[in-house]
Amino acid sequence: MEDYFGQDIKRIRHAKTVVSYAERILPETTGANPNVVIAAAVLHDIGIKNAETTHGSSAAQFQELEGPPVARDILVKLGYDEPFIAEVCDIVGHHHHPATEETVNFDVLYDSDLLTNIQESGKHEDTSSSGTGKSMAGTFRTEAGKRIADSDTARH
Ligand SMILES: [Fe+2]
Repeated sequence: MEDYFGQDIKRIRHAKTVVSYAERILPETTGANPNVVIAAAVLHDIGIKNAETTHGSSAAQFQELEGPPVARDILVKLGYDEPFIAEVCDIVGHHHHPATEETVNFDVLYDSDLLTNIQESGKHEDTSSSGTGKSMAGTFRTEAGKRIADSDTARH
């Protein structure tokens, strides 16, 4: 992921923050597969680069379209098996758009990304471009995600 993003420090830092939130949510979330969740956390926004070069936009729909083939390439090179790759790519491919029924692995990634986006938007006082912020705090999908959001908000 770092090799792929190169000088794009902001995106590398974002992915690492999502991983660290996932590491907090995972131990409290029954049924989640840490390997799948961490791989998805590392790679969830990997489509941004091609979204910008091919579509001129980092909008969620383009990221979700461009992400899975890049994620698949990386995971194949790293020697992961097909079911693992398929699940991670599925999460990457709709990580901003939960389906009616979702896996626990999706839920952990979703909350980790949401917590990261809230943290980043608070830091930069800019919720307009990302479309995220405290108004999304009600949309958490795991108990641990909600609890972390509540405790982090209370600290500010
Ligand atoms: Fe993200």
